[in-house]
Formats: sequence, C-alpha cells, structure tokens
Amino acid sequence: MGRKGIILAGGTGSRLFPMTRVTSKQLLMVYDKPMIYYPLSTFMLGGIREILIITTSNHLELFKTLLGDGSNYGIELQYQIQPQPEGLAQAFLLGEKFIQESPAALILGDNLFHGNDFVTQLLEANQTIKPTIFAYPVSDPERYGVVEFSNEGKVLSIEEKPKNPKSRYAITGLYFYDSSVVDKAKSLKPSDRGELEITDLNKAYLAEESLTVKLMGRGMAWLDTGTFDSLNDASSYIRTVQNRQGFKIGCIEEVAWRKGWIDDKKLLEHAHLSIKSGYGNYLINLLEDKKEQVF
Ligand code: G1P
Repeated sequence: MGRKGIILAGGTGSRLFPMTRVTSKQLLMVYDKPMIYYPLSTFMLGGIREILIITTSNHLELFKTLLGDGSNYGIELQYQIQPQPEGLAQAFLLGEKFIQESPAALILGDNLFHGNDFVTQLLEANQTIKPTIFAYPVSDPERYGVVEFSNEGKVLSIEEKPKNPKSRYAITGLYFYDSSVVDKAKSLKPSDRGELEITDLNKAYLAEESLTVKLMGRGMAWLDTGTFDSLNDASSYIRTVQNRQGFKIGCIEEVAWRKGWIDDKKLLEHAHLSIKSGYGNYLINLLEDKKEQVF
C-alpha cells in the first residue's frame, strides 16, 4: 500500500504577526511561491500522491482555493481542521481516517528542504515500509529534537529541546513512518508543554529498534521560516539558486509534469494562470526546452 502524506499547516503564526493575522503562515511567500509549495513538492518528489493538509478552520478555504482536490497536479488532496495545535504527533490522530492501514509520512508546512541528493534520499525513505527520519547538523541544536549517534553511527538517544545537546544533529520536520503510527500516536501522553511530541513517537520506534536516521549532509539546505528574518533568508536563498541555475525550486507544476502526472496541456493551463508574473513563462519554457531532468 502506498504511503500517505500529511502536511501540518496549522498554528496561529503568532511569531509572524501582523503578517499572519488574516492568512496562514504556510501561505506566505517564499520568494515566488506560497510556502506550502515547498513541502508539497517534497512529498511529490518522493512519490507521495495522496496527501492530507491539516490546517485551522480560518484558513481551510484558502488552501482549498489554491490547491483544490489536487487533480490539477496529478495528486489527491484532502483537508482536515486542527481545532487546537496540540503537538506534531496529533497529526496522526487527526489523520486516522485518511491514513487507514497505510504507512504514513509527515512534513511540517513551514519546512523547506533543498539539495542535490535530496530526491534520492526521499525516494529511498518512501520505498521502504520501515520508518525513516532525518538528522541535520545545526549550530543551535537546543531548539530541536536532537539525535545522538555512537561512533559506528548507531542511534543512542533522541531528546526534545535538550538544554545540553549531546550532538549538533537536529531532527528535521520530515518523518516517514509505518502503518503502526496511528496506534503509537494514540499511546502518547502530552509533554510538560502540553503537546503530543513527535520526539516521543520517534523514541517509541527507537525502542523497537526499527528507526532509521539518515544524515543530511553539508550540501543540503534545511531552512527555517519561522521569523521575519529566517523567512527573508529563505526567500533570498531560493532567489539566488533559482536565478543562478534557471531551475525553480518547489515548483509543484513542474514536478507534476516531469513525473508524468499531468500532461503538456495542463502545464500550459497553469502557465497561463501566472503569465503576468513570469512564473508562467518558466512553465512554457519547460515545454519548449524539454530541459534535462535535474530535480
Ligand atoms: C518540532 C519538533 C522537534 C523538531 C522540529 C523540526 O519542534 O518538536 O523535535 O526538531 O519540530 O522543525 P517545534 O516546532 O515544536 O519547536
């Protein structure tokens, strides 16, 4: 059974007020596209086509207007309201009906990944039923879930926001699990900050010795979009790399087309919708150039 994906795009976005007083953080611009395009394209690149977007009641219609049922991108989208943000692992409780008996993946709607080997890592993670999470070296690990490795690369511990981190490896907001994830999420108890912690879920898999932690190397970008500055930095990064290479990052229309999930005609329809911004021209040029496949 194919793995189903959940994009968690809830929260009040209060760290970005007043920008997010009337819209969702995950719809804010990251250079030339809404933030959610990036995690959505991540799932698509990994081959995940059945996706649930979890958001607040205020923002549900906005996401639906933007992305619809997904058929314009050759994917199936469903939506679910998160009444209260009560931790990342809550996504699997809210998504129980959607997931059914499938393996499931979660990505945070404000997480942006980019890098040369990333697609290979994604495809590998999605091809195995076994759970995979990703570790990325950061300079401020105390802000994240932190994983400690032995010299042989074995995972020794996972801790949520430790005061004294045992390593520099933060666990990113991209998680591939098996079909036991809903049951495991149900058995979690809220933490001191009142949340169902994804770290506790990871620890449950670790205890079973079924968890694979893959390293994201130095050439990878895992960007934060949680503050005005980090959001602006993410935009600058995307702008710099895109303009240098002439390839867009997180372009869901392009990914759908290169995967063969939408045809040339549909790509042109997308192009005409965004023709005045230049985004549409990029899509038209794809058709004209049939550029080599380099995600
Ligand atoms: C959450 C998780 C943490 C993970 C991080 C990734 O942190 O709890 O383990 O490393 O996402 O962005 P939070 O967003 O709750 O601070």
